[in-house]
Amino acid sequence: MNRIFSALAHAVLLGVMLAAGNARAQSTPTDDALYQQLGAQPGLVKLVDDFMVRLLADPRMNPFFKDVDQAHVKAELVTQFCEVSGGPCRRKGPDMKQAHAGMDINKNNFNALVEVLQQAMDAQGIAFTAQNKLLAKLAPMHRDIINTP
Ligand code: HEM
Repeated sequence: MNRIFSALAHAVLLGVMLAAGNARAQSTPTDDALYQQLGAQPGLVKLVDDFMVRLLADPRMNPFFKDVDQAHVKAELVTQFCEVSGGPCRRKGPDMKQAHAGMDINKNNFNALVEVLQQAMDAQGIAFTAQNKLLAKLAPMHRDIINTP
């Protein structure tokens, strides 16, 4: 009798543990809300296409970007924006310090690029709150990107 009771208790306990595990799994989904707000992959591709057009058209940015492999840089930016916004991408390219080494980038250059990115996000109709969230993810990178006073 005891053995039957013990087996039953174990079965109940196992059920409770499985339910708890399941609840925990459901309560911590990966947070891709920002990625979705940015329009997921198609939205990011459109945003970065527009961003590059604007970088080339902006006299402050053109000297930096006119000779780059645009397709490559755009693909890297899409992957990076996807990753930092909680999407399924993982960027494997050089880190931000390496990627920008050798270019003299100062604070004004950095701010100008952010301004152009804001213009591109506006043009794509990205909500202001989502714009700010993406910028908040990118802003700390200034420590690795700005490399000249
Ligand atoms: C938050 C700010 C920035 C982010 C997130 C960012 C991100 C990136 C990424 C992901 C790449 C591609 C690197 C690779 O894998 O090859 C790249 C390349 C590049 N970035 Fe930035 N960047 C930022 C700011 C700047 C600024 C301020 C400048 C200059 C004013 C700049 C100029 C460039 C150039 C010229 C390249 C192409 C390098 C090459 O392919 O030779 N970036 N950036």
